[in-house]
Amino acid sequence: MNTKIHLVATLAAMLGLLAACGERPPIEVQQVGYRGTGMEQNVNPRLREKLIAVNQIGGVQPPADASGPLAKDVYQNVQVLSDLSVGEFTRVMLSMTEWVAPEGQKNCTYCHNAENYADESLYQYQVARSMLRMTRDINTNWQSHVKETGVTCHTCHRGGPVPQYVWFTDPGKGRENAFIGTRAGQNSAVTGLGITTIGHSTLPYDPYSPFLLGDLDIRINGPTALPTGNNKSTKQAEWTYALMVHMANSLGVNCTYCHNSRAWADWDQSTPQRTVAWYGIRMARGLNNQYLVPLTEVFPANRKGPLGDVAKINCQTCHQGVYKPYFGESMAKAYPELQGVKAPPVDPNAAPADATSAPAGTSTPAATPAAAPAAEAKPKDGSKMAQRGGPTTVAAVFDR
Ligand code: HEC
Ligand code: HEC
Ligand code: HEC
Ligand code: HEC
Repeated sequence: MNTKIHLVATLAAMLGLLAACGERPPIEVQQVGYRGTGMEQNVNPRLREKLIAVNQIGGVQPPADASGPLAKDVYQNVQVLSDLSVGEFTRVMLSMTEWVAPEGQKNCTYCHNAENYADESLYQYQVARSMLRMTRDINTNWQSHVKETGVTCHTCHRGGPVPQYVWFTDPGKGRENAFIGTRAGQNSAVTGLGITTIGHSTLPYDPYSPFLLGDLDIRINGPTALPTGNNKSTKQAEWTYALMVHMANSLGVNCTYCHNSRAWADWDQSTPQRTVAWYGIRMARGLNNQYLVPLTEVFPANRKGPLGDVAKINCQTCHQGVYKPYFGESMAKAYPELQGVKAPPVDPNAAPADATSAPAGTSTPAATPAAAPAAEAKPKDGSKMAQRGGPTTVAAVFDR
């Protein structure tokens, strides 16, 4: 009898697990590259339903009157939104309340001292001021990644004070001295603190600290027959793979959304999305170092991670499981107030016309990051490809 119960229980548990995975067939396959290259995307219609549900844009307030006195001349302590009229300023305050202040407590006093709105004492106020700067910075200086779609507070916050997907430096499971639990945190089939970390693999479980805070080299494909430079160890490759798994999961895509898997490193055989992702890595790293880390002393202890570090941003913070936040719908367009300092007025023609066709030519205010991959990455990878005797250079190799 006992055996029977166990059997039933085991079966029930297995079915539960299967259901939890959500990856039951049918899976739809979409071709994204040339025939024969295996560049396909697997789409699960049931998961897509869920993703559509969580990727609806937030509330948009009616446009505000841009004329009239500036908020900074009417109020006492306006430092970031100093270019906005009182009407526009109020619109931003109302929207921030809706997008960020918690359920049931949705009011101005989440950030403000009700007695004195100019008072800076609440940590939420101080954080919000920094977030305003960050949001404007993303929309003006990181168009190489966010294009004209841009972001608002809602892109990350989605109605709550703490974005659902953030990361902390993971101290591991206290197995540093164990035989297989190395300092890299390997062989723990965990999902880390963020659900998308490394899927269910046994790769290093904190790929964020080295790549999205530090700038450890991601390239691991070597140009030489024997290991040299950054391709010295398998361990290095595993870190890169851990980051890649996070990126693919965050966007709900397969590796071939960006790569041609016969030549991972080669930019010429990669999709334009890979270049956008390249900027995304630099952007996430930049935002963490420029905005989140400096807020370490501002945040209370209960908001910090096990090692006392602040919550930080990764791809999932904005993307929430889809290739573009909200499947590409733009909330930010309705918010010129969050586009950056208004004078001189934002020229709509200054932004790149197409989202994906010409990533290398993205010449927006983000001139510095935009110029980088062309100079830093592409030619370097091209030459690596040539040295390895890639498809285009086979003849050259034999001729030597
Ligand atoms: C998420 C945090 C947050 C919420 C919620 C919020 N504010 Fe603010 N508020 C700020 C920040 C930050 C500033 C300073 C902006 C700047 O420096 O440009 C500010 C400034 C102000 C000021 C200027 C005060 C002065 O004299 O300097 C007023 C007025 C104001 N908010 C009203 C409101 C009202 C009304 C609400 C509710 C509808 C609200 N705020 C909700 C963060 C918030
Ligand atoms: C790119 C993602 C991102 C965007 C955009 C963003 N935030 Fe945040 N925000 C974060 C992260 C990450 C934290 C840290 C989470 C925490 O509080 O532990 C945070 C924390 C906060 C907090 C502190 C909440 C608390 O209770 O601890 C406030 C307030 C806040 N953000 C306001 C804003 C406002 C207002 C905007 C828009 C002007 C905004 N944020 C835009 C990522 C973002
Ligand atoms: C959203 C786009 C994207 C996805 C999805 C993606 N990658 Fe990457 N991958 C990149 C970018 C961008 C780089 C280069 C990063 C850099 O140089 O800073 C890269 C680099 C790599 C490299 C190193 C190449 C070299 O030059 O040595 C490997 C290997 C790799 N990816 C494997 C994978 C695998 C495996 C997957 C799926 C689990 C994957 N990638 C998914 C964008 C992506
Ligand atoms: C601050 C929010 C934010 C963060 C963080 C972020 N992204 Fe994005 N990403 C966006 C927005 C917005 C778009 C849409 C741009 C557009 O309209 O083409 C986008 C677009 C993309 C695209 C182009 C998709 C396509 O089909 O054209 C890729 C690839 C991408 N992101 C990868 C990443 C990766 C990888 C990371 C982490 C390293 C990342 N993103 C982090 C906001 C973000």
